[in-house]
Amino acid sequence: MDIRSIREYLGQDWSAVQERIASALESDIQLLNATNRSILSNSGKQMRPMLSLIVARACSQGSPACDATVRYAAASELLHNATLLHDDVADDSDQRRGVPTVMSLMGPSVSVLVGDYWLVKAMELILGSAESDNKVIKVFSKTLSDLAEGEMLQLQKAQNGDTDENDYLRIIYNKTASLFEAACVSAAISVDACPEYEQAAKSYAVALGLAFQIKDDILDYAGTDSVGKPLGVDILEQKITMPLLGAFANVSSEEEERVRKMIKDIVDHPEYRDEIVSFAKANGGIEYAVEQLDRYVAEAVEALSVLPDSTEKEMLVELAHFTAKRLF
Ligand code: IPE
Ligand code: IPE
Ligand code: MG
Ligand code: MG
Repeated sequence: MDIRSIREYLGQDWSAVQERIASALESDIQLLNATNRSILSNSGKQMRPMLSLIVARACSQGSPACDATVRYAAASELLHNATLLHDDVADDSDQRRGVPTVMSLMGPSVSVLVGDYWLVKAMELILGSAESDNKVIKVFSKTLSDLAEGEMLQLQKAQNGDTDENDYLRIIYNKTASLFEAACVSAAISVDACPEYEQAAKSYAVALGLAFQIKDDILDYAGTDSVGKPLGVDILEQKITMPLLGAFANVSSEEEERVRKMIKDIVDHPEYRDEIVSFAKANGGIEYAVEQLDRYVAEAVEALSVLPDSTEKEMLVELAHFTAKRLF
């Protein structure tokens, strides 16, 4: 089952989320409205709301989505896009989803302001739900602070050149897995899932989110045009990600120090990039990263074992495998 057929299966629930997202972003400021519509017209994979809807159904014997589930699903996608609008400024990135970024077309200030707008619209959706209890608000608030902390830790580590695997895992939990967690846990709460199911949703989402970012980082080394965003840029931004950490695990400490020094100096020597990418590939970095990716995918699938068998549970398994296989 591919992503499109999952969306078709979700039917009315999926349309309800799309409508919520579109109406949340209506503004009478023409420039803002036009920018929002343009982003929505090329919307990406929409993994997070898909996960919300499926988790809610998997925890409620396939019931159609309630208002709270739709709101949290829509909010997760709005928040995701807000982080991308900010991230493209932080990473000085000119392409996303195969088209020029807001940041490259309209400048960094517009990208940050539009990102702020999407973020606040997400919060309004969450706060507007009759069922939104403190617990859901706390889940999303934690994610918001995780996101900012993750991006800042990433910057701090980039400057020091000393990222180890624990630092890396903390960064990718904060900047990516935490939002997967919020999408899935809020969905479970929205259907009053029992504590075991809520815990399963949480464990699944965290492992899946880590896998998702590891795959993104592998694609930065080994992807093709289908990814739709600039590749080979992580090194230039001094990001030490899983493929490079994997190569470090396979070489002497002297060799590791030599390459770490090159990354520290890369801002003045962008020509080092090709050598560092070749170093990661020649020393088993991609294979190591794929092993870690597969391990987290397996962990995500395993977390689902407490949920009753259902089509939705199969879809969650399918989405975990898609995360590892995806080429975009
Ligand atoms: C990109 O996320 C940023 C990461 C967390 C790796 P997606 O790959 O989900 O982006 P879109 O929304 O599908 O473009
Ligand atoms: C993920 O990191 C960004 C966020 C979660 C905001 P990346 O910087 O690797 O994401 P891409 O590659 O630009 O999509
Ligand atoms: Mg980026
Ligand atoms: Mg990336």
